[in-house]
Amino acid sequence: MKIGIIGVGRIGLQHARVVQAQEAVDELVLADMDSARAEEAAKELGGSFMSVDDIFHKVDGVVIATPTFTHADLLVKAAAAHVPTFCEKPVALDIPTTKYVIDEVRASGTPIQIGFQRRFDAGYVAAREALQSGKLGELRRAHMLTCDPVPPHAEFIPGSGGLFKDCAIHDVDALRWISGKEIIEVFAYGVPRGAEFFAEYDDVSEAVATLRLTDGTLATLQVSRYNGQGYDVRMEIAGTKGTYAVGLDEHSALVSAEPGVTFPEGEPHPAFYPRFVKAYDAELAAFVKVAAGEMDSPALVDDALEALYVCEALGISRRTGRPVKVSEVKAP
Ligand SMILES: NC(=O)c1ccc[n+]([C@@H]2O[C@H](COP(=O)([O-])OP(=O)(O)OC[C@H]3O[C@@H](n4cnc5c(N)ncnc54)[C@H](O)[C@@H]3O)[C@@H](O)[C@H]2O)c1
Repeated sequence: MKIGIIGVGRIGLQHARVVQAQEAVDELVLADMDSARAEEAAKELGGSFMSVDDIFHKVDGVVIATPTFTHADLLVKAAAAHVPTFCEKPVALDIPTTKYVIDEVRASGTPIQIGFQRRFDAGYVAAREALQSGKLGELRRAHMLTCDPVPPHAEFIPGSGGLFKDCAIHDVDALRWISGKEIIEVFAYGVPRGAEFFAEYDDVSEAVATLRLTDGTLATLQVSRYNGQGYDVRMEIAGTKGTYAVGLDEHSALVSAEPGVTFPEGEPHPAFYPRFVKAYDAELAAFVKVAAGEMDSPALVDDALEALYVCEALGISRRTGRPVKVSEVKAP
């Protein structure tokens, strides 16, 4: 198979390496707005490079790893060319654009997979299986945490959609996917601490939220851009029969305050890639199967829209200081 990668920046270059390692892939084609970067990556990986417009007509599948504001346009081009596509999250920063992409994708029938890699992380998968098999009993409580050690650079912030759409969207998707329930109401606090650019762009560096699910379960969420102990992504999922903790291992960014307790003894992960490396490998291996027509997409554009509704509601709640029903955001 011939697979194209559009955008060979921070995550695109890593995705290109993973795609190239798949047995079914015998040719890699790279494209980037910065053609020198695509050429350099092609040299390094042993692939070829071409323009973004040409790539859709020359490959069996495409991976979009460009900045978020470009995703919608590229997904519409992929749908028009009927090329199975993997696209990093989020699809777009606003609801009308995401709905437009869904309409175009549906009309063309092109398979699209969104980069919700937690659906391929061993811990999240085990928690989902434990809940859905009945091992945890009835769901009663969930707590989620996504903390970056340091903020991204200032230029990233205005185009990122803010802390909820950029970071918490993964927690929201994981909660929907694991619980099998929808989130119907949220209440969020957020504060801009540290770098001045958070306040300048009406973003926050710290947030906490409560989320109410269709079955009445209450979940909590903490998100931060400053976690001195390291990259920390965890989830606790508690039912009437048991509790599972995702991300609690030797690399957890924690120090036990208990005398004599040495767990965890490993080094905390410094950033998202090492934490989720196996999940990225697995999601892209799945995508190659999607592109080959061997399986259905495991993360749809519709899932990205559902997660975006919740993140939009979280943002409104944070700005207005009131609980927000997700139906408010969904209403046309
Ligand atoms: N799933 C995850 O865990 C995860 C982690 C990091 C980033 N992301 C997502 O991946 C995307 C890329 O993030 P990044 O940090 O790698 O960005 P980046 O800025 O490091 O790289 C983006 C690349 O795209 C190129 N580019 C920009 N506009 C383009 C266009 N119109 N056409 C072709 N190429 C273009 C740039 O030249 C650059 O090489 C973002 O949407 C981000 O949200 C997801």
